[in-house]
Amino acid sequence: MRPYELIKAKRDGQRLKADDIAAFIDGYTRGTVPDYQMSAMLMAVFFRGLDDGELGAWARAMLFSGEVLDLSDTPGIKVDKHSTGGVGDKVSLSLAPLAAACGVPVPMISGRGLGHTGGTLDKLESIPGFQVDLSVAEYRRLVREVKVCLIGQTATLAPADKKLYALRDVTATVDCIPLIASSIMSKKLAEGIDALVLDVKVGSGAFMKKLEDARTLARTMISIGREMGKKVTALLTDMDQPLGHAVGNALEVVEAVEMLRGRAPADYTEVTLALTAEMLVLGGRAANEAEARAQLQKVIADGSAEKKLCELVEAQRGDPAAITDLSRLPRAKHTAKVAAPAAGFVTGIDSEAVGLAAMALGAGRERTDSIINPAVGFMLEKKVGDAVQAGEPIVTVHYDDAAKLEPVKQRLLAAYRFGPAKPAPRPLVLERLE
Ligand code: URA
Repeated sequence: MRPYELIKAKRDGQRLKADDIAAFIDGYTRGTVPDYQMSAMLMAVFFRGLDDGELGAWARAMLFSGEVLDLSDTPGIKVDKHSTGGVGDKVSLSLAPLAAACGVPVPMISGRGLGHTGGTLDKLESIPGFQVDLSVAEYRRLVREVKVCLIGQTATLAPADKKLYALRDVTATVDCIPLIASSIMSKKLAEGIDALVLDVKVGSGAFMKKLEDARTLARTMISIGREMGKKVTALLTDMDQPLGHAVGNALEVVEAVEMLRGRAPADYTEVTLALTAEMLVLGGRAANEAEARAQLQKVIADGSAEKKLCELVEAQRGDPAAITDLSRLPRAKHTAKVAAPAAGFVTGIDSEAVGLAAMALGAGRERTDSIINPAVGFMLEKKVGDAVQAGEPIVTVHYDDAAKLEPVKQRLLAAYRFGPAKPAPRPLVLERLE
């Protein structure tokens, strides 16, 4: 069928054949299907959706629009984790060395922060010298030799997604579950993995604000993975408040290292352990969650998880001394406290507002070409459920530019909600799907 006929068929709610989908996406990647026809198709998919067969064909066509890495020269089941993004989400920084220290090879291609969410690559780049732009050959070598490598997206992996994502961004078709799921899965499956753990965030700081939508997204991604012969499990985790205490690149690296030393906040520790335990089970290193957690406790207690992070940093040309001595990481020139306006309990923290405040301070990007400041950010001294006295610090702001301080303090105060009663605790892992 010609592109016009395919667009019309989808517009009218008809089912598209796999070959037609493959030809349409291939034509778009090569430039023979123009942006205006793909825009119309995206809008038709937005309203009509894709059934399981169409979705598999769509994701497959995106995956095979570029190189699919073969890591078969690395022994073992290669497992990655993907998060749909949140605020204070530094899970990858501790999960990757933890899983690798337990023997699971972790090939991880990560993203940068945009808008209110942070990105793993930006956090890693706050470690002096750390390189995320490695060649595919080097990535392959490090996965084999160090058992872990974290790099940025390359131009050769899932090129259809790069073009499609940019087009979706300007045609109001980003928030469409089949398009999100095929976008994420095409990139992840191109990395050369055998299995994948999905961390689908739910709440005020997440893409998916509602549990039902997060569940649908997780199921859709699991079904794409299964169709491609990969083992995929998903945890739906809470993002109704930022994860841990640190928000900001170098501050989050510090918290991640503290996690590997067994000294991080309980919520961040628990989400990391739950996701890494999934990786150990999928990677065949543990028979069940309890066994996986015991191994994780062991590599934390004997220092091998931190040692693995140092190895990774050194292999990616960073300074491992900045991990063993955290005072060598970038530090902001000043700190200031935000004080609680009255006594009571913290009843909520709007994660998206905290993420936007971090962006305004310079920790995040407003545009893809914005320069970020690795040193600035926040330490959330009080989290949901904590009691506060009037005037007690709720956040410490780490800043360089004094002109930014007052507006950021106001944003943070507006992000916190207080009340007279302690709210009931929310579970951190809301659901597990496979
Ligand atoms: N992240 C992606 O990689 N793709 C989407 O479509 C949305 C979030």
